[in-house]
Amino acid sequence: MTLSETSVRAVPPEPETAAWSGPAMAAPALPDPLLRISGVSLEYRTPARVVRATHRVNLDVYEADRFVLLGPSGCGKSTLLKAVAGFISPVEGDITLDGVPVRGPGPDRIVVFQEFDQLPPWKTVLQNVTFPLRASRRLGRREAAQRARQVIDKVGLTPFADSYPHQLSGGMKQRVAIARALAMQPRVLLMDEPFAALDALTRRRMQEELLALWDEVRFTLLFVTHSIEEALVVGNRVALLSPHPGRVRSEINSHAFDLTSLGSRDFQAAALRLHERLFEADGSAA
Ligand SMILES: Nc1ncnc2c1ncn2[C@@H]1O[C@H](COP(=O)(O)OP(=O)(O)OP(=O)(O)O)[C@@H](O)[C@H]1O
Ligand SMILES: [Mg+2]
Repeated sequence: MTLSETSVRAVPPEPETAAWSGPAMAAPALPDPLLRISGVSLEYRTPARVVRATHRVNLDVYEADRFVLLGPSGCGKSTLLKAVAGFISPVEGDITLDGVPVRGPGPDRIVVFQEFDQLPPWKTVLQNVTFPLRASRRLGRREAAQRARQVIDKVGLTPFADSYPHQLSGGMKQRVAIARALAMQPRVLLMDEPFAALDALTRRRMQEELLALWDEVRFTLLFVTHSIEEALVVGNRVALLSPHPGRVRSEINSHAFDLTSLGSRDFQAAALRLHERLFEADGSAA
């Protein structure tokens, strides 16, 4: 069995396809992608030089996808996520959401970062989750508090609704950040290595919770990681980016895997192939 490597646009968002199967044989009409990244090159310009972070990246993310960007450090994963969030503009190519070009940040795309200090420390958990709902004028005071309590409950933090961030563990702070993002009901939830700074056990628990939340809410997720294992567990689709500047090297279906697959032969074989592919892409053993 070989790693399925297909043109990114040719992979249907089809949950029933066997993992690692080849390109879809029948060609069912694909729905329009929710998020389309089309020939996107991203650069950083300093007075001294221009750094090309990604080069002509093509990706289609469909509704309710858990789409993972996997690649070595410096390959432009965070930069791509920032571009989707609207913080930076492509130097070539387009990013569209629901067919509309992304021109700047908006409440339809919310980012959860790796850092534990992304929550204003002077606000309680409830205030942290309520604040963006109020600031974006989405909901009135009462409705905002109600929705905030619902998502806080979903992430298991009801007993800590009145606690401040400094009174919480790293994992709990990340749960608040996730609750805050989900409360906004974004079209796409963007996560940049959200669990990378957690210990291994907490990280695993958070992955489990994220999948349980997804099962319940079915949000669309664009998730960045450089962990192969995390990519296979969290994603239903994984795009492998080559090193600097990032290009899409291949894309695989990984929906067959979850935390219960960790020790399985299929999972290990898949992880090994991705590992080989990453090193192949890297051209080094670093
Ligand atoms: N603000 C910046 N100014 C100039 N260059 C930058 C800036 N931010 C990132 N870069 C460069 O752009 C490239 C991509 O960086 P990016 O942070 O997107 O990588 P990454 O894949 O997220 O890496 P990591 O896994 O380490 O987080 C790197 O070469 C990096 O040095
Ligand atoms: Mg990064």
